[in-house]
Amino acid sequence: MKNVEQYFVPWIKGLKPYISEYCELAWQDMSLQRMMHNETPLEPSKKVLEAVNKYAKLGNRYSDSAKVIRQEIADINGLESHENVLIGNGSCEVVDMIFRCLLLPEDEVIQHTPCFGIYRLRCNVLGGKLVSIPMIYKDQLEYDPDGIINAITDRTKVIVIANPNNPTGNFMDEKDFVRIAKTGVPFIIDEAYVEFAGLERSMVKLIKKYKNVMILRTLSKAYGLAGFRFGYVLGDKDVIGQISASRLPWNVTTITLGAALAALEDTEALQERRDFVNSEVKFIEESLKDIPGLTIFHSHGNYVLFDGAKAGKKGKDVAAFALERGLLFNAPAPMYDSEGFFRITPGTKEANRKAVEIVKEFFSK
Ligand SMILES: Cc1ncc(COP(=O)(O)O)c(C=O)c1O
Repeated sequence: MKNVEQYFVPWIKGLKPYISEYCELAWQDMSLQRMMHNETPLEPSKKVLEAVNKYAKLGNRYSDSAKVIRQEIADINGLESHENVLIGNGSCEVVDMIFRCLLLPEDEVIQHTPCFGIYRLRCNVLGGKLVSIPMIYKDQLEYDPDGIINAITDRTKVIVIANPNNPTGNFMDEKDFVRIAKTGVPFIIDEAYVEFAGLERSMVKLIKKYKNVMILRTLSKAYGLAGFRFGYVLGDKDVIGQISASRLPWNVTTITLGAALAALEDTEALQERRDFVNSEVKFIEESLKDIPGLTIFHSHGNYVLFDGAKAGKKGKDVAAFALERGLLFNAPAPMYDSEGFFRITPGTKEANRKAVEIVKEFFSK
């Protein structure tokens, strides 16, 4: 008899579940200020909460194929029909569905680093090979479209780029998206944060011309519904139809569908969240811009990345200093020979003012 470990596919062996220590900590101690995961500090709007209540009462029922909300999303994005839209349990699940449809073990995924970690995690689960193309660090971290195009091989099955990028907060030029789209390789443009700058910045128009382009979105960020888990992808209807075949039936709960529809219709609540976050990002950037040796990466998302290396500071020390004072910051792993990186997601007004004081105090030591 073989032992059970021998039945697992080789590429899953040794992989660890994703656990965010800071998330664990934040739920254990609710007094900690969550400024590490690009959430929105405002609680769901009244209309969303009403919808939750309404749909909770229908919790004994299976949902339908969500044509109503998919059509709403198509309308918001100037697309023809619900067939251009596939929904998921957060946009992470949508990434997973797309990867499953495209990757065989050893096939390649091109990502642009630093970036959101889920592309790597889901690629690993499928035995794919991750090809990471670093952004170019001059004064700021810049996109490297040539690097991405040059990395394409016969085994490249998908390219994924966030726009604006997390954690750098910047946008890539439209002409570079077009150049990558023209390669024909399936191309996910992750627009998790695009609503903060406005949908005018979206690359959704490329879908009509390039069948390989998919636009990934989420309600976790500007809509402020991270805990509800609702994401979607926009694309050509044949492509979406094919990927939809991998969707688990009822992958999005009835309650989340109700909450998400209410949130999409509640344009005032979206505006309120966007205005609040944008002004707090500006406040944080402005308040810290005069610290000698602190590089600030100007952000179009709900987070700001910093590099304290030139001031001789380490990101993990900033995060530890903040944690002692009740604030959770994110400290990415060292990169570009610098241990100085840290990222702050705006929290409440009060938390943001405290964060600014803490960073100033730390850098004055
Ligand atoms: C670029 C990017 N895409 C997607 C997500 C996650 O979205 P969701 O909560 O919809 O899975 C994040 C979360 O931080 C992100 O930074």
